[in-house]
Amino acid sequence: MRSADDGRGADVRGVPWFVAAFLVALAWPAGFGSEEPSEIQPASRSLRDGVYTQAQAARGKAVYLEQCVECHKEDLRGDGQMTPSLVGIGFTFRWKDKRLYDYFVGLRDTMPLSAPGSLGEPTYADLVAYMLSEVGYPSGNEELSAEVIGRKDIVIEAPAADAANSRLRPDSAR
Ligand code: HEC
Repeated sequence: MRSADDGRGADVRGVPWFVAAFLVALAWPAGFGSEEPSEIQPASRSLRDGVYTQAQAARGKAVYLEQCVECHKEDLRGDGQMTPSLVGIGFTFRWKDKRLYDYFVGLRDTMPLSAPGSLGEPTYADLVAYMLSEVGYPSGNEELSAEVIGRKDIVIEAPAADAANSRLRPDSAR
């Protein structure tokens, strides 16, 4: 039977483990004390975890009905021509595996079509909350602020197929 420290304290080539670890740290481009390496994203969060609140989605809906409904329609499916659907396959196909940050920036910088950027970031965040609720993502306990989105750690995962309000099915049946 092996003793408790067998193979742990010693290195195969006779280099003490701590020297080996030090050399690895030196050779590693993003070694100790450096900023967070840019290739490694912070632990990402999923929209399935509930990243907005019901109250926020309700606020977003009120704005939507004033500013967006004319083109994107009450069911958020657009007009089937120039104006795209914001839910179902139309959403998932375009945004799956992208960052929520990119979606937010695109929205803020292009909508409403006649006055991009005019609503202010908190309102755009509310609109995102409303659209996410309509796509079929669950709400949670924390509001989705522009600052939270700006951390760029939220990834757009396809909504759960069995989400109560999922619109994937009717859209794909089109
Ligand atoms: C005058 C009509 C009009 C209004 C009003 C309007 N949109 Fe749009 N929206 C469009 C058109 C047209 C596009 C496609 C633009 C493009 O592809 O460049 C679009 C694209 C989008 C997209 C991108 C969709 C995607 O998956 O790429 C989002 C999100 C969006 N609109 C949300 C909104 C919201 C929220 C509002 C209200 C604040 C709004 N729109 C107001 C016409 C409109």
